[in-house]
Amino acid sequence: MLSDSKLKFKVRRATLDDIPAVMRVNLESLPEHYWQGFFEYLLENWGEAFLVAEVNGVVVGYAMSRVETVTDPTLVGLPDMGQGRVKKLLGGFLGLRWRVGHLVSIAVLAPYRGMGIGKALLSETIRVMKDVYDVDAIYLEVRVSNEPAIRLYEKFGFRKVTVKKGYYRDGEDAYIMVKTLKPVTT
Ligand SMILES: CC(C)(COP(=O)(O)OP(=O)(O)OC[C@H]1O[C@@H](n2cnc3c(N)ncnc32)[C@H](O)[C@@H]1OP(=O)(O)O)[C@@H](O)C(=O)NCCC(=O)NCCS
Repeated sequence: MLSDSKLKFKVRRATLDDIPAVMRVNLESLPEHYWQGFFEYLLENWGEAFLVAEVNGVVVGYAMSRVETVTDPTLVGLPDMGQGRVKKLLGGFLGLRWRVGHLVSIAVLAPYRGMGIGKALLSETIRVMKDVYDVDAIYLEVRVSNEPAIRLYEKFGFRKVTVKKGYYRDGEDAYIMVKTLKPVTT
């Protein structure tokens, strides 16, 4: 996919060779870092949803996701049926399972932000989750203070469904945001 803004960027599937560049973007853009094996694990298993954005052949952004089976109804956008473990157990007990996409991480290098790259990465992630992985919903965690990211997600129809208290290492809370892709019921 080529961008239509003044800056020409391209969003494509990542390959193993892109992992070092993706790790650099991650290190420079976010406080949440992962070991190399984790990036490779996501690429190996859900490679269609591991995307990079490049400008003149240089990786300046990425989005990586995985597919999970969950019993927590809030992760598909259904109302909260209880607190914490109770709602997961209740879902499990009732035999309710949903297939969801989990956007693990998305980032764009600072000089390239505000040019539509984040939108392109997210829009392609949603398309792949629908068309390739056939999930019921997509969810993600985001720092409650991360206004640019929250705006981006809301623009694509994600809704805040829960607050995870002290989710991040530094103690900041996370919003869980969900975009439902299929009609889901309990
Ligand atoms: C979040 C992030 C990926 C967005 O990437 P981007 O390429 O700058 O995003 P875009 O240019 O496509 O902008 C998409 C939308 O995000 C919102 N947005 C982007 N920057 C914003 C800012 N500084 N303030 C408020 N909203 C902002 C806007 O709604 C924008 O849409 P618009 O241009 O139509 O108004 C980027 O800011 C980033 O890498 N941040 C650091 C890493 C991070 O926080 N990742 C998310 C972790 S959950």
